[in-house]
Amino acid sequence: MKRMALFASGAGSNVLNIIKHFKNKEQIEIALVLTNNPKAGVIQKCEEQGVPLIYLSKKGFSQPHTLLQILEGFSLDLIVLAGFLLKIPSELVEKYPNRIINIHPALLPNYGGKGMYGMHVHRAVKEAGETESGISIHYVNEHYDQGALIFQAKTKLLPTDSPQDIAQKVQALESLHFPNTIERLLHD
Ligand code: GAR
Repeated sequence: MKRMALFASGAGSNVLNIIKHFKNKEQIEIALVLTNNPKAGVIQKCEEQGVPLIYLSKKGFSQPHTLLQILEGFSLDLIVLAGFLLKIPSELVEKYPNRIINIHPALLPNYGGKGMYGMHVHRAVKEAGETESGISIHYVNEHYDQGALIFQAKTKLLPTDSPQDIAQKVQALESLHFPNTIERLLHD
């Protein structure tokens, strides 16, 4: 049995895709979803899907001792950041080397770093007049969006695409590739 935790701060569309993908796979379990945002849409999605959810405040994340204790009880093989917006404390990176992954909604190393998340990324891509964007799934290290790449997929952009259109195209790639990439990593 492989166990993973999902960390999320937002609407939770990636979390929902991952939950659905692994629902009938008996060898892989989503042990918990952890959120730092008490208003996140992901909370209701977890309730509806019957997946355990833990809330930990931003302050709680900045004192990783408690977080490490919580996670230790689950014997995790993988931590998946699925739209998670806080920086991962270095203590966590050290405790789970090459076992924390993130999805970023652009083609890293471009459009990454602090403040580059969600619609901010798509607006920046639009303003730069890019002809393509995509997703980057990567290992997490101490620096925002700088860990080794695991997988990228691209989508073409039209000059008429709005930031919202770009977001939709990127989300389609996330749903197509993120659960499969997680499964592949857990089987390796
Ligand atoms: C996703 O597009 C994810 O790639 C992005 O936030 C969105 C969360 O949506 N993550 C980042 O920007 C991380 N820097 P969701 O809550 O609906 O899955």
